[in-house]
Amino acid sequence: MRPANLKTKIFLDGGDPDETKTLIKLLGFLDGQTTNPTLISKNPEAKKRIETGNKFSEDEIIRFYQKTVREISSLIPEGSVSVEVYADAYTNAETMLRQGKEMFSWIPNAHIKFPCSAEGLRAAEQAVKGGMRINMTLCFSQEQAAAVYAATRSAKKGDVFVSPFIGRLDDRNENGMDLIRNILKMYARGDGHVEVLTASVRKPDHLLYALKLGSDIITAPYPILKEWGEKGLPLPGDKYVYDAGALKPIFYKAVDLSRHWQVYDLTHDLTAGGMEKFSGDWNALIRKS
Ligand code: G3P
Repeated sequence: MRPANLKTKIFLDGGDPDETKTLIKLLGFLDGQTTNPTLISKNPEAKKRIETGNKFSEDEIIRFYQKTVREISSLIPEGSVSVEVYADAYTNAETMLRQGKEMFSWIPNAHIKFPCSAEGLRAAEQAVKGGMRINMTLCFSQEQAAAVYAATRSAKKGDVFVSPFIGRLDDRNENGMDLIRNILKMYARGDGHVEVLTASVRKPDHLLYALKLGSDIITAPYPILKEWGEKGLPLPGDKYVYDAGALKPIFYKAVDLSRHWQVYDLTHDLTAGGMEKFSGDWNALIRKS
């Protein structure tokens, strides 16, 4: 059962509906799910096809993604399911938007993921004007989060998520959890229309500290949520302190949220690297004809 004092929404980060089913039984609730091209490439059915040399055609992989998110959506009809567009370094906003519109029609509870790149932000600005719910992925800086806020001013609360990837910052010895704290602090001065979705969670302490900080949403992989469920869904107490060890702090910057989104610095090597990895994992599923 969902703990009465749990305010944060809990999402599963994964591409396998069987995990969704098992986790709902274990936790007694689930508020949503996030998918991405890498997670879809790890889906057991997709992996089996690749292992047996039976790659997908362009049409088949889209249908497979659609089938997978439809199954997930039917398991959490009241929740949100994030579906990610294909975006490499050369994909323009129009192409992202076209894919996003198509994906948004697959299920009634989709949030469409666009990257926190200039073209991704351009697509996001148009998407929210057309009433699409979105999740801005591969966020690694406060400036990118400020741009998400500024590009989506017309949206209502719940329609826009921003996903800072904390584990990938930790991987390079920067304290990813500082970014969550900084974005929440910056957004506290705004109108609350963007929800912070803590992503790239790698360990139970990421989950606990994001709960303590009051992240609106946390998405975590199956093993982390399974462990949390088996421990009885513990919440951080008043005395909880996150131990960042030797990770380098990321300091808060006073960023003005009232500017045009194009003014903010959107460049981050981890955003570019993340897009390359996502598109590479997706392309590896497709046979060359
Ligand atoms: O939700 C984002 C997540 O899937 C990325 O996680 O572990 O690949 O950094 P990771």
